[in-house]
Amino acid sequence: MKILDNLEEIKQLDRQDMLGVEEDFYNQLKEAARIAGDANIDSIKGAGFCGLAILGMGGSGFTGDIIKNLIKDSVQIPVEVVKSYELPAFIKKGWLAVAVSYSGNTEETIAAVNEAMLRGCEVLAVSAGGEIKKIARRHNKCHVGLPQGYQPRGAAGYLFFTTLLILKKAQIAAIKSDDIQETLELINQKKAMYLRDVNTGNNPAKQLAVHMYGRLPVIYGVCGYLSAVAYRWKCEINENAKCPAFWAEFPELNHNETVGWQNLADISEKMILIVLKDSSFSKKLIVRQEITANLIRQSFADVLEIEAEGKSVLAKAASVMYLGDIASVYLALLYNTDPTPVDRILALKAELAKLG
Ligand code: PA5
Repeated sequence: MKILDNLEEIKQLDRQDMLGVEEDFYNQLKEAARIAGDANIDSIKGAGFCGLAILGMGGSGFTGDIIKNLIKDSVQIPVEVVKSYELPAFIKKGWLAVAVSYSGNTEETIAAVNEAMLRGCEVLAVSAGGEIKKIARRHNKCHVGLPQGYQPRGAAGYLFFTTLLILKKAQIAAIKSDDIQETLELINQKKAMYLRDVNTGNNPAKQLAVHMYGRLPVIYGVCGYLSAVAYRWKCEINENAKCPAFWAEFPELNHNETVGWQNLADISEKMILIVLKDSSFSKKLIVRQEITANLIRQSFADVLEIEAEGKSVLAKAASVMYLGDIASVYLALLYNTDPTPVDRILALKAELAKLG
């Protein structure tokens, strides 16, 4: 565990400085606000769309998951997240398709945005370049450019915050300025606690990584923003720490998975259950989480409960996400693993590209 407090060893292992990227989340959010503020979005502003489809995969696809959950209680139009080559039949003329791909070259997202244009949807493209930018330019569609040089998952602040604030600017999503301010302030506070030079004894992100080390994480979210975040944690642990992780959401998991921890105890006793919580949820949901943890606690090596901090849902979502993101990098370091490379994703994409 000593590596977490050894800055020289961290530097040697984390060759492309993924930790630095995660530590910098606050600045990404601030820069995202500037990018959104400067963007020319005349073609989509105040257009009165009848539906919103957010297209994207993996680290970019998280943008759709989180935005849908952040705005679903206030928007009056359907919001659909598409993580595939194909669009559901109900997405058609009158909808806004938001294509989010950090590289701009993800084939599923390219196919989906091309299909959206064939159906007469309006398009907003968000990328750091690539084919998606070219497609948007060729068809005179709105393209918002992000800074280059990141791993897609490491650019999450740019991806989701820029897109969210563009939707606010386009009068599609109602996000309060106070919530944005609260989010920035909370993330800045958390940054001071999670930085590499805060030693493990005082650093909740390092402590979380230590808890997860040697154990298979199972993350329980709650239908809504904490589901999107639970899934994000799972993906970050997969891609940064290169280890398996699984997730599920309340209340659905109470109708199946709760029973599933009865057998295979020799496997589940190597797992850690992490329950994401929000004290503003209904009493029923809070009690449900407590009962569930008590029913299945003995199946796991450890059970952790993580309470979302902040007042607004935006601040809560961003702060729980930030904790998971940075802890996944500390977990990679504990596994003596460089967090940045995702060789298997690249190998798969290269093979698929050969098919044309
Ligand atoms: O984090 C990653 O590298 C992946 O999950 C990518 O985000 C995913 O493969 C899609 O690529 P892009 O985000 O460039 O569209």
